[in-house]
Amino acid sequence: MFITFEGIDGSGKSIQAERCVDFLSAHYKVLHCFDPGHTPIGNAVRAILLDKENSRMDARTELLLYAAARSQLVVEEINPFLAKGGIVISDRFYDSTTAYQGYGRKLPLSLIHQLNMIGAHERVPDITFIIDTNLNIAGKRISEADRLESESIEFKQRVQEGYRAIAKQEPLRCKLINGNRSIEIIQQEICAYIKKKLDADL
Ligand SMILES: Nc1ncnc2c1ncn2[C@@H]1O[C@H](COP(=O)(O)OP(=O)(O)OP(=O)(O)O)[C@@H](O)[C@H]1O
Ligand SMILES: [Mg+2]
Repeated sequence: MFITFEGIDGSGKSIQAERCVDFLSAHYKVLHCFDPGHTPIGNAVRAILLDKENSRMDARTELLLYAAARSQLVVEEINPFLAKGGIVISDRFYDSTTAYQGYGRKLPLSLIHQLNMIGAHERVPDITFIIDTNLNIAGKRISEADRLESESIEFKQRVQEGYRAIAKQEPLRCKLINGNRSIEIIQQEICAYIKKKLDADL
């Protein structure tokens, strides 16, 4: 099973992914990864993407770099782990590209979709949790440190709306989670959802 966590910066993805890894590790082999990054090549690309010095980066350059980092992650880590029967939990995956580069930067969604499939080697998550957190609440949770987190409020709103659109378009894969609640309550909802899905798959 391949599970991804998505949402705007500060929505609570990483904490929920961590809790989910802890919950599942008791019974399953679990790989916890993050996109972009995790592999040596992916981390080198991630550094380019987040560097404030790279403010001149073209939107398509950015798109291609994310796809490149993801390709390496899928081939080097995700696919081999799934092939061995493990559960993979990824902090972000290609829906981030759709939300940020598609809805946020307004690159054509058809182009994004094509590139997402290329970068993911057609690997589609089984469950995607989209943590939907109010922009003000999410903003207060994070320090605005890197290049992407210093985007305008309009950009962040488009990204948020993008995630909601993805959840509507793919309701079987994507589960929209109200991220304005406590860490524990959200965690309970996510764990219950995964448990139900795992039981159904047995
Ligand atoms: N539901 C919540 N209630 C209160 N605080 C939370 C909640 N979820 C996360 N936090 C806290 O907010 C901060 C940001 O959360 P987290 O790192 O999980 O967000 P993120 O979505 O991964 O952000 P980023 O996109 O910047 O990586 C952390 O300090 C985390 O402990
Ligand atoms: Mg995070």
